[in-house]
Amino acid sequence: MRVLVTGGHGFVGAWILKILHSRGDEAIVFDLHDNARRLEVLYPTGNTPQFAFHGGDVTKLDNILGAIDAHKIDHVIHLAGLQVPTCRQNPLLGSQVNVGGTLNVLEAVRLRRDSVKRVVYASSAAVFSPPDAYPKGSLPDNVPLNPGTHYGWFKICNEGNALVYQREHGIETVGLRPWTVYGVGRDVGMTSEPTRALKCLALGRPHQINYGGWQDMQFVEDVAAAFVACLGGVYKGPKSYNLRGAVVDMQQFLDAVAEVEPASRKLLSFQGGQLPIAWDLSDKGIQDDYGPIPVTPLVDGIRNTLESFRRLEGEGRLDKNDLG
Ligand SMILES: NC(=O)c1ccc[n+]([C@@H]2O[C@H](COP(=O)([O-])OP(=O)(O)OC[C@H]3O[C@@H](n4cnc5c(N)ncnc54)[C@H](O)[C@@H]3O)[C@@H](O)[C@H]2O)c1
Repeated sequence: MRVLVTGGHGFVGAWILKILHSRGDEAIVFDLHDNARRLEVLYPTGNTPQFAFHGGDVTKLDNILGAIDAHKIDHVIHLAGLQVPTCRQNPLLGSQVNVGGTLNVLEAVRLRRDSVKRVVYASSAAVFSPPDAYPKGSLPDNVPLNPGTHYGWFKICNEGNALVYQREHGIETVGLRPWTVYGVGRDVGMTSEPTRALKCLALGRPHQINYGGWQDMQFVEDVAAAFVACLGGVYKGPKSYNLRGAVVDMQQFLDAVAEVEPASRKLLSFQGGQLPIAWDLSDKGIQDDYGPIPVTPLVDGIRNTLESFRRLEGEGRLDKNDLG
């Protein structure tokens, strides 16, 4: 495959590039910036494979068309977007990038549908209403959605637009809804706090996570594998799929960290309430249609992340800019 990865220099993008490269696919990075720092820390020093980079802005249709044509793209993974805090501060910019940008990707694929076979795009669990809006039990992909953020509504809008492009133009679209993705490279966004806590722990620093309650902790390698899995296989329609990792409350997360690193009890804490997003989501849909999607146990994901942060610190390669 020749896969255009928009937002490829972001956190999830870096891990997707790594999987695509290991499979022998050609991955082309489409991003505003050419800074590959999140990718480089996934490889030993000096061993990062060369990925073609196409600088561009998803708010500009001709930038995306230019990338598809220049690199003879046959599949697209669309990740480029702004996260919850930015969309809250600047909803107009948020809609231009998250909604307008996604429409541009879909439109570019429509214009090049003879060559591009499928688009897999990042939606989010933020499309869901607060947890008390639903009955108890794991929620399937298809439930009423009434989120409390612009970001959540932008993602719903994208899911709707992807549906229309499939129905009216036959474009194969697949949406995925991650919850809290954690791992090396996570340094922005509302739910980056658990990863930041692990980075502080690796450095022996205290850290207080600024919210509590339940969440679904998803190891980034599993999320990346889900995106790649949805590029192939028999197409099952323009669905938006929940993902599922380890559903824990914040104390259970900290207990899992302490299982790996008992010293964390003295360094890590949390204060604050539940994020207003339903957290008990079933992944039956994606597992049935494109599975098996790997689910790394929480303790293993924590250990992997902590060890990587320690190794990077030892090599002088740990990025601490997100620690303030
Ligand atoms: N990380 C999570 O926990 C999580 C959870 C749910 C959904 N998501 C979604 O997954 C996607 C990837 O998340 P991430 O954590 O890798 O985000 P990230 O912020 O680390 O990366 C986003 C990338 O998009 C690029 N970008 C931003 N605006 C752009 C534009 N106009 N044109 C081109 N590139 C642009 C950025 O430069 C960055 O490299 C996003 O759409 C996000 O909303 C992430």
